[in-house]
Amino acid sequence: MKSFLKWAGNKYRIIEQIKFCLPKGKRLIEPFIGSATVFLNTLYPSYLLADSNRDLIHLYQKLQEEGQSFINYCRIFFDSNFNNAEEFYRLRRLFNDSKENRIRAALLLYLNKHCFNGLARFNKKGQFNTPFSCYKSPYFPEKEMQFFYKQSKLAQIIHADFSSTLTLAKRGDVVYCDPPYVGLSKTANFTHYTADGFNKDQQIKLANTAKALASRGITVIISNHDTEFTRNIYQGAILFPFSVQRNISSKGSQREKAAELLAIFK
Ligand SMILES: C[S@@+](CC[C@H](N)C(=O)[O-])C[C@H]1O[C@@H](n2cnc3c(N)ncnc32)[C@H](O)[C@@H]1O
Repeated sequence: MKSFLKWAGNKYRIIEQIKFCLPKGKRLIEPFIGSATVFLNTLYPSYLLADSNRDLIHLYQKLQEEGQSFINYCRIFFDSNFNNAEEFYRLRRLFNDSKENRIRAALLLYLNKHCFNGLARFNKKGQFNTPFSCYKSPYFPEKEMQFFYKQSKLAQIIHADFSSTLTLAKRGDVVYCDPPYVGLSKTANFTHYTADGFNKDQQIKLANTAKALASRGITVIISNHDTEFTRNIYQGAILFPFSVQRNISSKGSQREKAAELLAIFK
């Protein structure tokens, strides 16, 4: 099942490789849930889903709380009257200025489906700043939202930095980490999912925490680019390298094969 959101770095194309590496467990923890592809395509008895993007988490929490009534509310913004640049920038301002979680949640979905390349990009002030893109008739993902709602009965969904989420891991849990990837060049990596970005120190902290959890018997799997840096910080893990067709250039149209890595700490 595809996610109801478009999300940079979503794992739909490599879900089979990830599932191959995931062991059985009582609960799957995802500290970087993004568009939730792994959650939607696995079946664990329970889940702990987290992300540091507050708006993304509020959107999931609203859907989890309200189900179909929230889906119906979101559909209002998919009327053709809202599919033009003027309305897009008005609704983007409303999203950035509003303090009300329900409208922000519905508008995040609207912005995601009407903005350039579906790239949910936030500036340093935490404001959504992707421009409008004219799609003839943006798809309203009703079926995908209903699927998320059904599966969310198994999940606890929290807004948290990965370091706090990982303190909640217990024996019997499996952890899948999909952080913003390390850069292949100065321009080719996207880390603006939130106002704060993601730097090399955080990559190292994540790798060290994975090692510490593995020493307590908790399996942790991390996705990333296959680079000298990642191979260095993931020393001691079992490495599963493979290649995948991706938009790795800053120009979305340039598609190349990228070397990926799944590092398994156990
Ligand atoms: C590569 S995406 C995850 C994609 C996801 N696996 C999917 O299939 O869509 C990385 C995610 O990490 C989140 N993130 C960035 N910094 C974070 C942090 N310090 N703690 C937790 N989440 C963070 C971003 O908001 C983004 O959703």
